[in-house]
Amino acid sequence: MVKICCIGAGYVGGPTMAVIALKCPDIEVVVVDISEPRIAGWNSDRLPIYEPGLDDVVRQCRGRNLSFSTEVHRHVSDADIVFVSVNTPTKTCGLGAGKAADLTYWESAARMIADVSVSDKIVVEKSTVPVKTAEAIEKILSHNTHRRSHGVRYQILSNPEFLAEGTAVADLLSPDRVLIGGRTDTPAGLAAVAALRDVYARWVPPDRILTTNLWSAELSKLAANAFLAQRISSVNAISALCEATGADVAEVAHSVGKDARIGPRFLSASVGFGGSCFQKDILNLVYICECYGLPEVASYWREVIRINDYQKGRFVNRVVASMFNTVAGKKVAVLGFAFKKDTGDTRETPAIDVCKGLLGDKAAVSIYDPQVAGEQVARDLAMNKFDWDHPRHLQPIIITGTDVARQVAVAADAYEAAAEAHAVCILTEWDEFRGLDYKRMFDAMHKPAFIFDGRNVVDVAKLREIGFVVYSIGKPLDEWLKDMPAVA
Ligand code: UDX
Ligand code: ADP
Repeated sequence: MVKICCIGAGYVGGPTMAVIALKCPDIEVVVVDISEPRIAGWNSDRLPIYEPGLDDVVRQCRGRNLSFSTEVHRHVSDADIVFVSVNTPTKTCGLGAGKAADLTYWESAARMIADVSVSDKIVVEKSTVPVKTAEAIEKILSHNTHRRSHGVRYQILSNPEFLAEGTAVADLLSPDRVLIGGRTDTPAGLAAVAALRDVYARWVPPDRILTTNLWSAELSKLAANAFLAQRISSVNAISALCEATGADVAEVAHSVGKDARIGPRFLSASVGFGGSCFQKDILNLVYICECYGLPEVASYWREVIRINDYQKGRFVNRVVASMFNTVAGKKVAVLGFAFKKDTGDTRETPAIDVCKGLLGDKAAVSIYDPQVAGEQVARDLAMNKFDWDHPRHLQPIIITGTDVARQVAVAADAYEAAAEAHAVCILTEWDEFRGLDYKRMFDAMHKPAFIFDGRNVVDVAKLREIGFVVYSIGKPLDEWLKDMPAVA
């Protein structure tokens, strides 16, 4: 029986291993993590991450061939295949701060594998890492074989995960492709690739399992995320032009996406992209390009992030400018805090920057999100840029008595958030925001009542009929907004 151990029970490790366990009943899968609360969550009825369909998969496999444990050493030692799915934050200090990946957690995982291993292992990179990380890991493993593990052989594979949050289970069950990078120039490397291919081949059609060399696999993940983020920044850049000219970004995106060479997906204008991957991976790409002496390539990709920051800043400016250039002391309802719908994840969510912008202008912000707890909101608003992916920040931060605590409230529903508010900002495209009783909200708000839709979810014409001043990203501006231009 093949034994798989995954180090890191996060958004990637948890769902991926659950689906492997589901599809491979003859493989024992253990997910380990140093975080006791995380593991306790995975062993409870309330999983630590919200992902549609995941409860069901975990319920079917847990106790059969899927388990979650903090006994990291024992399970790594027992495994044939070790997936590594730990955090790779952006460095916050020292060389490459603000750009380069911080491989501290990866390195400590690799050293631990070397310490506890007494049998041959296939080590699989699952978390996104900079190109050539596999080579570094190989060096750590081969230089740290002490007496007990003498003769242990390691094969390193890169098997980046392409799942998107909110659709993780569907993406894992039916992936566009599975990418396996390995040392395809050696028999041992080929055997390791074949062993991992055999796992996925239980449910993924053979033509969707791609094999490449290690470095192509590592770079493919960074490039795929950069391309996706670039599409969003492209449509967001066009959204600004639409507002200036009276075009409608939804109509433009639809027309552009009809070209089969471009395609319709990932062309929704928004307040900006968020999530744990896009910004981090592009910054990483930028840093690698700089290191390899490619400044033009680096600055090309840096622009994708700059447009994303511009889009968030532009949104805040629009809110403040429309409301007579001040939101001080005014209640602003924020609907949606997660970085996209169907997830409770707030990593790099545009809502953080928008709320910080509004708080900077002294607004009183009332936040409602169906999946994000108040404690998480408070933690996110109290955190510095790039700090979120460092495990010490997974500990609760109590913020009382600070400006943020005084200015921020968390509401139980959208109506509570909007009561007595001057404006509503929609920052996540949750389905429930499409069906709200906006007349009821309007009646409970100060006048003029504003709606700033950062996700194009509302029916602009209907809301204008109710009496709202409406701003929707990339849509023709109404007269009020034309008279109150926002400087970006
Ligand atoms: C992304 C990649 O899609 C996935 O392949 C990779 O493995 C991890 O990073 P994820 O971050 O979970 O996945 O979500 P994704 O659906 O890509 O959305 C990222 C951000 O872009 C969200 O904030 C989303 O709201 C935004 N977005 C997406 C837009 O603003 N417009 C779009 O058209 C699509
Ligand atoms: P991702 O979105 O890539 O899955 P997460 O931050 O959700 O990232 O998950 C990474 C997990 O890895 C965290 O739960 C963290 O506690 C865990 N982790 C980090 N370093 C180690 C380590 N050395 N051993 C075990 N678990 C680790």
